[in-house]
Order: sequence, then C-alpha cells, then structure tokens
Amino acid sequence: MEQKKRVFSGVRANARPHIGNYLGAMKGMLELQDKYDCIFSVVDLHTVIVPYDPQTLQAQIREVVLDFLGAGLDPHKCHLLVQSQLAGEHLELAYYLGCIYPVSRIEDLPTYKEKKATYPDYINIGLFYYPVLMAADILIYNAELVPIGIDNEPHLEVAREMARKFNAMYGTKLVEPQRYATPGGSVPSLSGEGKMSKSKGGTIILTDSLAEIKTVLAKAPTDSGHGEKFPAEGPAANLMTFVELFEGHDRAMQYKEQYKNGGIRYGELKAELAEAIYKELRPVQERRKHYEEHPEEVEDILKEGADYARGIADKTLKEVRGKMGLSKHETTN
Ligand code: TRP
Repeated sequence: MEQKKRVFSGVRANARPHIGNYLGAMKGMLELQDKYDCIFSVVDLHTVIVPYDPQTLQAQIREVVLDFLGAGLDPHKCHLLVQSQLAGEHLELAYYLGCIYPVSRIEDLPTYKEKKATYPDYINIGLFYYPVLMAADILIYNAELVPIGIDNEPHLEVAREMARKFNAMYGTKLVEPQRYATPGGSVPSLSGEGKMSKSKGGTIILTDSLAEIKTVLAKAPTDSGHGEKFPAEGPAANLMTFVELFEGHDRAMQYKEQYKNGGIRYGELKAELAEAIYKELRPVQERRKHYEEHPEEVEDILKEGADYARGIADKTLKEVRGKMGLSKHETTN
C-alpha cells in the first residue's frame, strides 16, 4: 500500500483560535484529515517563550484542544497531540538541528525581529530558538505538508534548509516540508487595520455567543455608508470581506450596489452578519460541548495522539543519533 503523505501543523496556546484561524488554518486541517496522515498539535512549548501565566496554561491548552475537536478535527481521521507530551523528543531534535544552523539566519527572520520589538524586555534564548523548535516539530515526523498561514513561510524555509544541510552532513533522510496554502487565506481585523490577530483585539472566537459577536461587530469601525465607488480597503472593505465569507459573494455585491444608491445602513448589516457568523459557529459549539462534557474521551484522544507521534519520533531520533555517532548502533535506513 502506498504510504499516505504526512501532514503536521501546530497552534500555539497563547490565545484561543479566532474565526480568522478557523477559516484559515483549521479549515485547511479539516480538508487534509480526509486525505493524509495528519498530526495536529497544540504547540505549548512555543507558548512559554513569551510572558504567560503558568496558572492558566493547562486550561488554555485544553481550550485549544476543544476548539480543534469542535471545529471538526476527527480523532478517527487524524492524531491530536499536545507537544509537551513529547518535549524530550522535540527538544532533542531541535538541539541537533540548532548545532548545524547559522545564528545569523535566525537573526534575520522577520518574525524574530517582530517578537524582539514586541517584548523588548524578554529577548531570551527561547525566542531565538523558536524557529529551530518549529523545524524540529515538523522534521521529527517527516511531514511533507504544513497547513499554515503565509506569515510562517520563512520558518518553513528554515526547516527546509535545516533538513537539506543535516542530510548532506550526516546522510539522514529528513523530508523537506512544503506549506499547504489554505483557501480562507487572511481574514481582516475587525478593529481597524491589518489582519485579524490574537494580540490586536476585535476578534471573534469559536465559542462566542450571538450577543458577543454582536458586541464585537458593533465596535467595528465603518464609514458614511455611501459614495460613488465602494472602497477597496478600509473599514467598509473589511466588513464586506466578512459578508463575503459568511453570507456569500452575491450578498456582498448587493451591499456594494447599495453603497452607490441610497447607502448601506451598517446597523442592519452588522445584525445580519452577526446571525450569519453565529450560524457557522453553532455546530462547532455543539460538537465542542460534547467533548466538554466528556473529558475522559479527550484524555483518550490525546493519549492515542501522543503514542502515535512517539512511535514516529523515536524512529527519527534513533536514526539521527546513529548517523551523528551519538549511539553505538547506526540504524540501517
Ligand atoms: N509558528 C506557528 C505559529 O505562528 C506555530 C507552530 C509551531 C507551528 N510549530 C509548528 C506550525 C509546526 C506548524 C508546524 O502559530
């Protein structure tokens, strides 16, 4: 039987996934779980590189796992992993990869520079190591595909370079991963500029009630609602992206016409949009509720995920250690 392609992706536990993550990364994961051998992970070792609260971390991890399951990741189709369950394995490979990779390449990464700017008092080695650990997360499973946003492409490039260099130096067969571009792409922020982001506010999370969605939308900036031409960017354009995503292209076109003839009443638009978003989230919330009420099922799912992942990770590490001369017995392919 032909071996299915392996897929790995990770979501940090710093904040709950929002509808931007849902439409972007998570919908991609849902598509892939039907076709490939998928491991999806809450990457909690990546959570501790920035200031965080140890008291609530376990609860946060649990929330993200529930969001995964609620979104429709099916434990019969994919494997769910909490990364710290395999802390030793991931960190060991990260160390070996770090040993062959230039410091300067990490220093040049835009994400590293951004994080440094965001946490000027917290520029620690963990932050620096983030892309190295991320590469290890992927390479340890020989994952070929990684569903993730475009902003992570530089990290994947690092992972590919590491695999190439490591293979050339030691004769290993680490696989170079590719990004799987998700159709939901980039979802704009509801608070103003840029894309929806956990740190910027104006986000809708998967468990928000209709009332909460309405509150977030109520705060979203708008414009006068009329003019000669519907704007290509700015608050009105952002809102229209949401109409497109949740109510469809035709509804958005109607609004755009209205903008030129008579004007859009944003109060009404927002009320209708809130209903549409809630309609999409309701089944997610219902599935999630089942798992909230059955914590023992979640435990079993995570145990299966960790066991499965460990089987693959151990094999990779055994080979790597052997080829590096760190164990007596080099495994023969
Ligand atoms: N860097 C990812 C993010 O920005 C999180 C992450 C860590 C990840 N390790 C990964 C994603 C491995 C995909 C694969 O959220």
